[in-house]
Amino acid sequence: MDKIKIAVLVSGGGTNLGALIEAERKGIIKSGEIKLVISNKVGAYALERAKNAGIEALTVTKADCGSQAEFEDRLISLLTSHGIELIVLAGFMSILSERFTKTFSDRIINVHPSLIPSFSGKGFYGLRVHEAALEYGVKVTGATVHYVNEVPDGGKIILQKSVAVKDTDTPEVLQRRVMEKAEWIILPKACEMVSKRLIIEKSHKC
Ligand code: GAR
Repeated sequence: MDKIKIAVLVSGGGTNLGALIEAERKGIIKSGEIKLVISNKVGAYALERAKNAGIEALTVTKADCGSQAEFEDRLISLLTSHGIELIVLAGFMSILSERFTKTFSDRIINVHPSLIPSFSGKGFYGLRVHEAALEYGVKVTGATVHYVNEVPDGGKIILQKSVAVKDTDTPEVLQRRVMEKAEWIILPKACEMVSKRLIIEKSHKC
């Protein structure tokens, strides 16, 4: 059976994309193959990571498309024309509409840098999540990989991993620890789990 064709959507540095590329190289992801990377930010370093790994890398911005609906139409058209079967949001900082999430129902996953439902939903992204965790004073935080539906950070949880918070942490230090000890581990794992599920579903259809 062919591997599941994966697209990774990014907006920034792409360390999670780097972890996915590495996991595919090591065989941790063996049921899927990263075929396409799309950034909604011009010049995102994630694009360089994709190109260095020989993966097709494209940029699609909302400004160029004119509206959220046209932006999503462009994404849908690219994902469909590339035969993409699984979409991974890896630091993708744009909320997708119900129309988009329904188009790829149970085929979009996202990594979030907290233990959902804490510090999640609209307005909680990137460093802000860690600022909020430190402000609240939690002693344990972590990361979550979940399916994406129309509710921001509201889809079914696939994997979570906890990380200790230290008294001396700054948001940047905590962000790095959560990435290293949680995100870069559970995102590739979840990617393999979902790819495997999709292969099994495909084989039942044959
Ligand atoms: C990661 O910490 C990811 O969990 C977070 O943005 C960072 C992207 O880093 N995503 C969100 O906050 C989404 N709600 P990266 O570009 O180095 O992978």
